This record gives sequence, C-alpha cells and structure tokens, in this order.
Amino acid sequence: LASIEFDLGKVVDGQQVVLKWRGKPLFVRKRTAAEIAAAVKDDNASNLRDPATDSSRHKPGKPEWLVLVGTCTHLGCVPTFGGGDYGGWFCPCHGSHYDTSGRIRKGPAPKNLEVPDWAFLSDTQIKIG
Ligand code: FES
Repeated sequence: LASIEFDLGKVVDGQQVVLKWRGKPLFVRKRTAAEIAAAVKDDNASNLRDPATDSSRHKPGKPEWLVLVGTCTHLGCVPTFGGGDYGGWFCPCHGSHYDTSGRIRKGPAPKNLEVPDWAFLSDTQIKIG
C-alpha cells in the first residue's frame, strides 16, 4: 500500500493542509494552543461517542500536529474545519460535529475521524502509511 511523505516546515499555526492519500483526503493540521487546550479539556466529556484522549490522537510531545483521514465516518463526506458546535470539523452532509481532536461529538457519525498510521522521519518530515 502506498505511503506518502510530507514536509511540515511550511505549515503555520492554525493552518490545515489537505493531502490526498489512498484516494482519500488527508488532513494535516497544525493546531493552535487554544485548539489543543479545548481538546484536552474535553477528554472526559460525557458525550464522547468514541472515547479517546486527545493525547492518544497525536504523537508524544507534539500535540500541535493532527493527521486525520478527512472523510466523515457516517457516509464519507469531507468535513470542513471551523464549523459545528465544538470548534473542530463539521460535516455538512447530515450534520456531524467533530471537536478539535477530530472526535465525534454530535450528529449521526459513529466514530472519530480516523488517525492513520504515520510517523516523523525527522523534525519536519512525516510519512503517512
Ligand atoms: Fe457526514 Fe453524513 S456523511 S454526517
């Protein structure tokens, strides 16, 4: 299966880059401090349908980088960042709300946005898949 590499060096705080990976969009997001704080604060929220701590969704010591498969876990539409009730992604197809960790919080989607296998190859170079 194909892997891709990407250089994080040009991505700034609060920016999301959309790559294509295995025929799907892939979100690479450099989270702001506020986005990270909001995600951690909700680690024990009662409406986490697919419970996961924020730290389980990023690499140790690198909370600013989120890498997510950019398809809604309901029926596969592409959610947009900056909408919805939780400050993260919103899927316009049937109204699924994901938080700043990509966790499903409201709407029909059953699962969090998927974290693919990925790794740092150096300080800025990453490999997905
Ligand atoms: Fe996203 Fe249905 S495909 S809410």
